[in-house]
Amino acid sequence: MTETLTVLGIESSCDDTAAAVLRETQDGRVEILSSVVFGQTELHSAFGGVVPEIAARAHAEKLDHCVQDAMAASSTTFAELDAVAVTAGPGLIGGVISGVMCAKGIVAATGLPLIGVNHLAGHALTPRLTDQVPYPYLMLLVSGGHCQFLIARGPEDFTRLGGTIDDAPGEAFDKTARLLGLPQPGGPAVQAEAENGDPKRFRFPRPLKDRADCNMSFSGLKTALMRMRDQIVAEKGGLSHQDRADLCAGFQDAIVDVVVAKTKRALELYMNEAPAYPTIAVAGGVAANTAIRAGLQALCAEFKTQFVAPPLSLCTDNAAMIAYAGMERFKAGARDDMSLSARPRWPLDQTSPALIGSGKKGAKA
Ligand code: KG4
Ligand code: ZN
Repeated sequence: MTETLTVLGIESSCDDTAAAVLRETQDGRVEILSSVVFGQTELHSAFGGVVPEIAARAHAEKLDHCVQDAMAASSTTFAELDAVAVTAGPGLIGGVISGVMCAKGIVAATGLPLIGVNHLAGHALTPRLTDQVPYPYLMLLVSGGHCQFLIARGPEDFTRLGGTIDDAPGEAFDKTARLLGLPQPGGPAVQAEAENGDPKRFRFPRPLKDRADCNMSFSGLKTALMRMRDQIVAEKGGLSHQDRADLCAGFQDAIVDVVVAKTKRALELYMNEAPAYPTIAVAGGVAANTAIRAGLQALCAEFKTQFVAPPLSLCTDNAAMIAYAGMERFKAGARDDMSLSARPRWPLDQTSPALIGSGKKGAKA
């Protein structure tokens, strides 16, 4: 290792093929030299969800080009790298295998060290990449595939406080959009409708809100919404613009209400550890939701806690987070070898009991 540390990251666990090159300089600053993401949205759009076989094939076809692009954009040669980090799970197994095989190929050809990375650790460590957040911090991962509260203590040291027992919030947003004839991805579409709606007109349930733990459930919300929609259609023959906006506003309000209440509970548990710099960080596509952000920001202001939300390009799936997590593992002395295997399930916190449900994008944790 020279005075700098340069790592290539590879990500292919769901529907984004991504590669990135990061460099840590002597002063400890980490720079993203390149970050390339080839999305697959259009390949899956006709099917209403990610088709694992199509995803795996597309990853296998695109990975080489993606790595080449990331290397070229970073103006780095393989000889200048110190390690290759790759998502080794959890995720759709065909895609994860494609990424791991690609990384092993590079390692076999170059002799570089190989670092397997947990995809969720990639998300969970992003606030350290973007905002140099010190351990321990409270993390809310909230996307189309995952939803969990974690206390991050180290690159491989996480305590899960709770999470969704069924749908992830992004999944609930997407299903709601589908039920109301709005475009995919549903989150931004529902949020835009909600801005013109009355959140009080329809009373949505607040599942598990009053339970003393940090677990959440969102699958009942879409059932409630479907009933409300069907009732309006039966009474009036169809949905008006206002009906749709009010349904979206009520639905979003319920999600915000539950997420903020459960974050408050998670914050209480985290505060028991007396962190020197209390911080809540969010990551995942749903972290883009302005109402959820506003709710969490207000909570953080009330509890004098720093709120960190990385830019959206680093909240959604990308390889910069994988290279960064690999860098942290590498610096801690971790090395993998050719026996590194792809894992469909890989909970960050091996000690906490498995939650029910998996999310539309495959089993996570
Ligand atoms: O993290 P992400 O890009 O992919 C994974 O699920 O891994 O998250 C995508 C999810 C989709 O379900 C999308 O509807 C949701 O994030 N999303 C939003 C918003 N923007 C994206 N949900 C609510 N409000 C938004 N503004
Ligand atoms: Zn992800």
